[in-house]
Amino acid sequence: MSGNPQAASLTTRLVGLGSYAPERIVTNDDLCEIVDTSDQWIMTRTGIRERRFAKDSEFTSDMAAEASRRAMKTAGIGPEEIDLLVVATITPDMAFPSTACLTQAKLGLGKVCSFDVEAACSGFLYALDVADALVRARDYRYALVIGSEKLSTIMDWEDRSTCVLFGDGAGAVIVGKGSGAGGELMGFFSEADGSNPSLLCQPGGGSAQPASEDSLQKRQHFLKMNGREIFKVAVRLMERAARKLLEKHGLTPADIACVIPHQANARIVESLAQRLELPIDRFFCNLDRYGNTSAASIPIALKEAYEEWDFNNGDHILMVSFGAGLTWSSGLIRWTK
Ligand code: UT7
Repeated sequence: MSGNPQAASLTTRLVGLGSYAPERIVTNDDLCEIVDTSDQWIMTRTGIRERRFAKDSEFTSDMAAEASRRAMKTAGIGPEEIDLLVVATITPDMAFPSTACLTQAKLGLGKVCSFDVEAACSGFLYALDVADALVRARDYRYALVIGSEKLSTIMDWEDRSTCVLFGDGAGAVIVGKGSGAGGELMGFFSEADGSNPSLLCQPGGGSAQPASEDSLQKRQHFLKMNGREIFKVAVRLMERAARKLLEKHGLTPADIACVIPHQANARIVESLAQRLELPIDRFFCNLDRYGNTSAASIPIALKEAYEEWDFNNGDHILMVSFGAGLTWSSGLIRWTK
């Protein structure tokens, strides 16, 4: 990436946070009418109580745009001040153009650089890392970074082991330069391992298995997951992402005031807390209300943690994720009041 050699020393920070959850609440009991499951199984195995489903007429870009309007409002900035738009999603409105381009038009932004990042549940942290680097390197004023998902469109209602886990929603943040109030972006750590893609994937609809009668009949356009295997690697990889980033900044888990984990499963969060030797009450969780919203889970949780936990000056906040790919990522924020 070309750019100003002095730019790397610039401070970047989060100056606005917004989220959007569709109106329709779907409880575990509602799902019992569709698949052979129970509130008790879902609660004890995952910690999920309910999730939101978007309307048929409400797309990933619509949720992205609404979360963004709310983020811009908290930042006190208008669409004309956004110079970069990055959207993380695995449920784009369509294969192309990108959801970022569709969202740009819905928000009435200028003709700014707009693109999607696809790293599944790690997508938001990957996107924030890229946007942070671009804001440092270029003369962008503000970047809008969004995680938005309409996972209800790729859930297989004949697979009870996956269809109870996911929900729809969006979260957005505004990244700007300079010091001052807000969350200073200290750094990121991201890795991936593409050697076993079938652990978690949506096999149909791409160039390997284009839509056909056969692909439809084999239900290849739905999300497929080996949950047990993913569970094991998720805990290990989230711990790795957390420790690597903390070490780089001379910090230990004990220095972290708040962890925002990817919201997939309460038992994964508990295991991560044990491995990091941190009390569970340092982890912000809202998956009971939203389920797993993939790329949207961290920005939605970050915005709610900010509102509910009242971060103190100097607090370190650690975001950590894992997802299909496999991908795993962490991001560190220092809060300034
Ligand atoms: O964002 C990244 C995405 N992925 C994840 O984070 C998922 C990670 N994995 C998990 O969260 C867990 O593995 C699951 C929640 C998906 C599953 O929990 P588990 O404790 O690993 O259950 P299991 O797959 O080992 O299944 C245990 C039993 C099975 O029955 P048998 O064979 O023991 O008789 C399943 O058939 O639970 C059964 N089962 C269900 N029962 C009721 C699976 N799904 C359901 C269900 N309701 N919805």
